[in-house]
Amino acid sequence: MSGVAAELARLGAELAHHDRLYHTLDAPEITDAAYDALRRRYNDLAATHPELIAADDPAAAVGAAPASGFAKLRHGVPMLSLDNAFGPEDFTEFCARIRRFLGLDEAPLAFVAEPKIDGLSISLTYEAGRFTQAATRGDGTEGEDVTANLHTLKDVPLALPAPFPARIEIRGEVFMTKADFLAMNAAQEKAGEKTFANPRNAAAGSLRQLDARITASRPLSLFAYAQGEASEQVAETHWDYLERLRAWGFQVNPLSSRITDAAAFQAEIATTRGLLPYDIDGVVYKLDDLALQRRLGFVGRAPRWAIAWKFPAEQATTVLEGIDIQLGRTGALTPVARLAPVNVGGVLVRNATLHNADEIARKDIRIGDTVIIQRAGDVIPQVVGIVAERRPPGIAPYAFPATCPACGSAVLRPPGEVVMRCTGGLACPAQVEERLIHFVSRGAFDIEGLGEKTIREFHAEGLVKSPADIFSELPPREPDIAAREGWGELSARNLMAAIAQRRTIGLARFIFALGIRRIGEANAKLLARHYGSYANWRTQMQAAVTIGAEARSDLGAILGIGTAIAQELAEFFAEPHNTAALDALAAQLTILDAEAQGGGELSGKNVVFTGTLETLTRPEAKAMAEKLGARVTDSVSKKTDLVIVGADAGSKARKAAELGVRILTEAEWRTLAAARAGMDGTP
Ligand code: IVH
Repeated sequence: MSGVAAELARLGAELAHHDRLYHTLDAPEITDAAYDALRRRYNDLAATHPELIAADDPAAAVGAAPASGFAKLRHGVPMLSLDNAFGPEDFTEFCARIRRFLGLDEAPLAFVAEPKIDGLSISLTYEAGRFTQAATRGDGTEGEDVTANLHTLKDVPLALPAPFPARIEIRGEVFMTKADFLAMNAAQEKAGEKTFANPRNAAAGSLRQLDARITASRPLSLFAYAQGEASEQVAETHWDYLERLRAWGFQVNPLSSRITDAAAFQAEIATTRGLLPYDIDGVVYKLDDLALQRRLGFVGRAPRWAIAWKFPAEQATTVLEGIDIQLGRTGALTPVARLAPVNVGGVLVRNATLHNADEIARKDIRIGDTVIIQRAGDVIPQVVGIVAERRPPGIAPYAFPATCPACGSAVLRPPGEVVMRCTGGLACPAQVEERLIHFVSRGAFDIEGLGEKTIREFHAEGLVKSPADIFSELPPREPDIAAREGWGELSARNLMAAIAQRRTIGLARFIFALGIRRIGEANAKLLARHYGSYANWRTQMQAAVTIGAEARSDLGAILGIGTAIAQELAEFFAEPHNTAALDALAAQLTILDAEAQGGGELSGKNVVFTGTLETLTRPEAKAMAEKLGARVTDSVSKKTDLVIVGADAGSKARKAAELGVRILTEAEWRTLAAARAGMDGTP
């Protein structure tokens, strides 16, 4: 190591030490002047030898705020959300699902119950026992690098006492206690600074500071409760994992308990809730056995082995001042209640959903009524009913608009649906705008610098009329965009770079971005996997338009996506407006094949399970195969790649043998799947 590098390393370590003493422990050991001298020397060397500074060097980050936003960090294992339960029936169904999936009998399941604090989830990485980085949840796959900020939290151990794994992601919730929140708001107010609406916002606002010194001055706490990627298993049960966390110096919520009777625990916590020093909105129940957790895995964005049982919703009454009609990208008209502002469980509510025309009619909700508003967790507040006695005399029943408020086209209700739809299609500017917003949204093209507000502006001004315009019309207009209010050359250049970067896109994202009804992220992935390439998908979909309803139903079955969705796809492709927009867009892009995107190891393979499996339930076997990228189908054909036969397999096994399809026993399948997944073969 050169002399400079050695000095930088020494200064960096010293500064990190003094930063922590000063910011976190409020116990500095050296004078400010001495600290400043160290800091100046470090900064001078760092400025002349930037190549010697590691990107995550906490000494570099704490003192000096980076010029622009946070860097991105990729999570080793995605950070997911939780499904909700709102009552004992939901919880019973959750347990039944677990039993079905694992093929368990009625014996009680052992859970760990943890109060659910509404803060911000965070992932902390430890390498060789040292805290190396911290990331927010972000979109679940990638979060923001808040290492320097987390460095200032007293509840984040910087080094773990041995034994520890070589690498582990430890997850938890950053939050603010009620008392800290009130005191901080009072201080902010006195200083003429911004105050926060609730402890969650205060915690988020305090953590996401580019200048970590501000975070250091805020009273943030952390409870650790979960695990991300780990180089080795550190426990066999979640309970033991929590014990490990405690031993490593983390705060674990002291109310966390090992239970079998969730309803009793829920009732107990509900009565003590008000006395807790922090707000909670429910209890998280996690299956204790980690081997079972691994077998259960995930569906969509939530684990099958955990659930958040929320407390009953909070309600309030207020006056309904008006009803706005919001238009969705597929033309759905949603009525939204405009309310006299009212506080519901600590949150000021001005709007609430009215669901649809039927609901308004059923509850006989009229403008001018006093209505009951309900809020449960983070869901959108809803209008649950009216207070009949408070109805002012002479107000008229609500009449749902017969024409689209945006384009004047007729509003129709498709047979069998509750939703009213504008028939204007791409002639309706509101629908086009919503589609564009969807197109650039996070799971879709996700173009940085092109958010909802900008798209609305660009669309209103006629700059962007269709998705293809983003790629064909915006780049030549870079100078005009730079000249716009609030833009400037740098922002315009960044936007063009972001657009250029998105000219190459994976097939699944591309399909999802089109905003076809019922084609969410999961279905888009299924389609991408099934068809492999854009060209193939495009051809097959066009063919589906002409094949008739029965054939479409087969298509739905093959894909495992259902007839309704196959129908939706066919309708999309039957509309020349849509195919023209699609072709114009595709011409601007390089669309990557689904397999080329590093899909699962059995990517694109057709797998059939038949007979009685002994160590796996069917749903489990199917989930396992799909996780590796395979398609699970019911019948054996020439296209089948693999047939897994359990006990008493009949005609399908015979057919596979006739066709020369590869046949595996259940044990062979487990070995293969484990090898492909890089696991050890045990569940
Ligand atoms: S476990 C895969 N445990 O709730 C497991 N989450 O609705 C994911 N949360 O994003 C999370 N307390 O921010 C877990 N004891 C707890 C929690 C908890 C609060 C939050 C967390 C998560 C959200 C999901």
